[in-house]
Amino acid sequence: MKTLSDSVIKNSYIPIMAEIQSIERLSKDEMLFRVHLPQPLNHHPGQFVMVGLPGIGECAISISSSPESGKILEMVIRKAGNVTGVLQQLKKSDLISIRGPFGSGFDLDEFRYKKDNGIKDIVIIAGGLGLVPLRSLIIPIMEHKSDYGRIHLIIGSKTPGEALFRSQIQTWRSQPDCSITELVDDPDLQEWDGDIGLVTEPIHKLKIDEKNTLVVLCGPPVMYKFVLMEIKMNFNIPDEHIFVDLERRMRCGLGKCGHCQINHVYCCKEGPVFRYSQLTDLAEALN
Ligand SMILES: Cc1cc2nc3c(=O)[nH]c(=O)nc-3n(C[C@H](O)[C@H](O)[C@H](O)COP(=O)(O)OP(=O)(O)OC[C@H]3O[C@@H](n4cnc5c(N)ncnc54)[C@H](O)[C@@H]3O)c2cc1C
Ligand code: FES
Repeated sequence: MKTLSDSVIKNSYIPIMAEIQSIERLSKDEMLFRVHLPQPLNHHPGQFVMVGLPGIGECAISISSSPESGKILEMVIRKAGNVTGVLQQLKKSDLISIRGPFGSGFDLDEFRYKKDNGIKDIVIIAGGLGLVPLRSLIIPIMEHKSDYGRIHLIIGSKTPGEALFRSQIQTWRSQPDCSITELVDDPDLQEWDGDIGLVTEPIHKLKIDEKNTLVVLCGPPVMYKFVLMEIKMNFNIPDEHIFVDLERRMRCGLGKCGHCQINHVYCCKEGPVFRYSQLTDLAEALN
């Protein structure tokens, strides 16, 4: 039977209250929030929620946990301004409001190898905070690795102090058919056991079956143009096999306010995950 909380959780305008279970500092600016929901959100990897504090405001935050995480929702919050600043001051057991999940997201079925869709290689390129939404895609792939083909992760950060989820990335390395390159632009005098350089640099070395490869990108706006250029220069991967996870300013998350609009496209509804083939006539999207 449908309960009141069922209908409340499915109404995207009405927030639900979630209790903070833990907050972990990941770097100088980012904190990992683990919250307990009254019901699972049943999200797709790549979707986002609107996180709110009554009387203060709301902001868009990517879901970082696996779609199989049930009532536990993980998010990484970087202090940017008003709402994120107050969120970072909260403590265990405090309540926050959640609306969503919103946006397009990834269909894991398309990434599976055993579905006989021919996809043999998955290339995931994350820059900085871009790893946060892509983690919701990487975790289910790693947890059911035998259902997927080869996976190639290229993960870049500015400095070692900004590199996120390093111990979890270490556990992914033990998976079969999995290559991981972690890079920093600047070792910043700190010890660093990964590579040095930009995420564009290892791309030409990828050993992939280019016609049967899916590529996923998420990172700072400046990254997309150069990564796409490098991919196009080295491989013949169809545009519909390249996914770009974009971030735009958002208010409603529901295609009503227009804050996230790129020409005729509402990033909150049709995105934030787009196929590159959807963006080729939308020049502003990748600037
Ligand atoms: C789909 C999506 C997913 C996101 N995921 C995350 C996440 O996982 N973790 C995280 O920390 N942040 C994420 N963000 C960014 C986050 O929504 C903004 O940082 C937040 O809105 C800032 O709110 P605020 O009230 O703290 O800051 P405000 O006081 O509103 O603004 C602070 C400054 O940031 C600018 N700003 C606000 N939103 C954006 C934006 N989207 N892009 C560029 N500049 C912006 C404002 O113009 C202002 O200069 C995401 C944004 C989108 C659209
Ligand atoms: S955030 Fe309001 S229309 Fe997209």
